[in-house]
Amino acid sequence: PVMEELLGRQQQEAALAQKLGIAHCTIVAGDSTAPTGSLMGLARAARQVLADQLPLGASTVAVMGGHTLATVASVLTPSLAVNRHLLFVPARGGVGESPAIQANAVSAQMAQRTNSDFRSLFIPEQLNTATYKPLFAEPAIHEVLELIAHSNVVIHGIGQALVMAKRRNIAPHVIDDLTAAHAVGEAFGYFFDAEGHVVSKFPRIGVEIEDLAAKQLVIAVAGGAEKGAAIAAYMHLAPASTWLITDEGAADFVLKK
Ligand code: BG6
Repeated sequence: PVMEELLGRQQQEAALAQKLGIAHCTIVAGDSTAPTGSLMGLARAARQVLADQLPLGASTVAVMGGHTLATVASVLTPSLAVNRHLLFVPARGGVGESPAIQANAVSAQMAQRTNSDFRSLFIPEQLNTATYKPLFAEPAIHEVLELIAHSNVVIHGIGQALVMAKRRNIAPHVIDDLTAAHAVGEAFGYFFDAEGHVVSKFPRIGVEIEDLAAKQLVIAVAGGAEKGAAIAAYMHLAPASTWLITDEGAADFVLKK
């Protein structure tokens, strides 16, 4: 691109970061939720931000699931692990998603693509508290939960509330509650309204939004005009250090609001 375009993009990224109250935004061309949209631009931008920002040396990288993160995993290469020792873990328990886009699968794929290590967490999503509490004491689960708690890097997606509720097979009466509470977005199993008020939080385990501020690097990857409201809403909850990788579809939606 010519210099003017580059400058225009940088200004747009700075404006978006300011509007969302976060440190950095990267905006790629296109609209990933449009019918002809693709997640590849977001994925390649995420690969670049990781190459530039992942600390050298040892890191434990906690990752969420979803189509976006699965696409990020698909473009990583061993060069990311040069001068780094990376251990990938799922950021939250939960095998409620279809297998290929579960956090466990994404973390394993990131490890395989970069010749790094991974650990899986085998706990179903949507267990009631009485069922999952005793699982914490299981050594194999406890050990992975400790790794997740001590992760220094988190990479996650952001979803639309109702899209995610349906994908997770949430009961119809709970979906009605989310609608009544004007939930627009979802991240880390939290559902929130446009002002970032958490309207529902599913009892899962692993990284909580409150934990993110203490992490060395937090990268959110989400794009598309359809996700614009969810992304803007989530940024009320996100730590200011969040690095958002998004596309013009979502950026235009947020900047025009
Ligand atoms: C899910 C995560 O796996 O992916 C959610 O648990 C996230 O927190 C969602 O919102 C995003 O999915 P996608 O397919 O839109 O990238």
